[in-house]
Amino acid sequence: MKYQAVKGMKDIVPGEIEAWQVLEERTRRFLEAYGFREIRTPILETTDLFSRSIGEASDIVHKEMYTFEDRGGRSLTMRPEMTASVVRACLEHNLIPTHSPLYIYYIAPMYRAERPQAGRKREFYQIGVETLNTHSAVNDAELLIMIKSYLESLGLSKFTIRLNNLGTSEDRLNYAKQLTTFFKSHEHKLCADCNYRLSKNVLRVFDCKVSECQPIIQKAPTIVLSKDAGEKFEKVKTLLKEAQVPFHLEPKLVRGLDYYTGCVYEVTTEGLGAQDALLAGGRYDGLIESLGGPRIGASGFALGVERLLMALQANQISLADEILRNTVYVAGLVTSETSCSFYRDIAKALFLIGKRGIFSVEEKSLSNHLKQANKLKAGYAVIVGDDEYRAGEVTLKEMTSGTQKRVKPSEFLKAFNSF
Ligand code: HAM
Repeated sequence: MKYQAVKGMKDIVPGEIEAWQVLEERTRRFLEAYGFREIRTPILETTDLFSRSIGEASDIVHKEMYTFEDRGGRSLTMRPEMTASVVRACLEHNLIPTHSPLYIYYIAPMYRAERPQAGRKREFYQIGVETLNTHSAVNDAELLIMIKSYLESLGLSKFTIRLNNLGTSEDRLNYAKQLTTFFKSHEHKLCADCNYRLSKNVLRVFDCKVSECQPIIQKAPTIVLSKDAGEKFEKVKTLLKEAQVPFHLEPKLVRGLDYYTGCVYEVTTEGLGAQDALLAGGRYDGLIESLGGPRIGASGFALGVERLLMALQANQISLADEILRNTVYVAGLVTSETSCSFYRDIAKALFLIGKRGIFSVEEKSLSNHLKQANKLKAGYAVIVGDDEYRAGEVTLKEMTSGTQKRVKPSEFLKAFNSF
């Protein structure tokens, strides 16, 4: 019997992982420079946390959660997203300051039992940020400006920001009434899921992907913002224009999670096929209070790591090169047991100068070793032949130029720097 990874879940193996490592390292550096601090929360949460925050009628809660009963009879769910977990954790540990915002980020796996396809997995990673105790339009605009800088810092320049505003809770209530009247007049033409959404939360009808429902959804009215919400939205748009962040207004963008209020957005990019949403987020002013916290605003976004890597690849941006350039292929032609301690010296010396080693202690020809080093795109090779081994030295080779020199492991720093 052959075991395989669970459907919709994927191993990330050596050769693939390097791009992930570079992305994660660059993301941490970027977000930490902007004042965000990392949080890690358990994958499992009580089911109620998600049904309460994301909404019963959402596709996520209604159809996609991995929910089970534990041995103590508690209903637990593998997190389908992390905003609710972050809010729960920040409230539980009293992390939110009274008079200033809390900036949090995470890089973590999420679980949704969706139909798997390119860019849509059942286990997928998100890079996400949450800004708690934030209220102003400036915060909404700042996050979008930061998103643009972040994507550009990775070399991605072709993307589209789609923007909408869901107004105040009163605006949404009025809108829901208007929508209910509209969709009810077409209910016989809507799919069974839409009829369910109509009875639970009419806004969720916009999440429908069934082609027969689309002509009706297209004709649905758009939200009318109250004066205050409208002014705030104008401010966001002005700030974005001033910062030269282009955006498209998308009046039907309501997002598939119930907690959003005010500004919502999605970033799409080419090269992702049908699943073109790279990132999504918005303001969720009522969530903290509904989870038992103070009445304070918040906003954030999350980005799909697999989709981001696909987008980078489609744009010929290879993040892994950065790590591979710093990788040393150790061609160990000496395979005696006594040579172990010498390879250990090499490993220690590589560690001290911050290089990665790929050790191949194998009796094969030097040319085969070097072919392998090239195939792995290692920046350098360290060759340990009989001659070198007897002298306590190695031949250090820079792979692109072919330049090489004989050195002791203790001289690595100087030797690598002088290439
Ligand atoms: P979301 O739109 O459900 O929002 O997911 C955010 C991003 O995660 C998507 O734009 C997409 O790139 C990625 N994603 C979602 N589902 C999958 C999947 N099945 N496979 C691969 N990638 C996927 C949220 O999760 C919110 N918590 C975002 C947020 C944070 N809003 C405020 N703060």
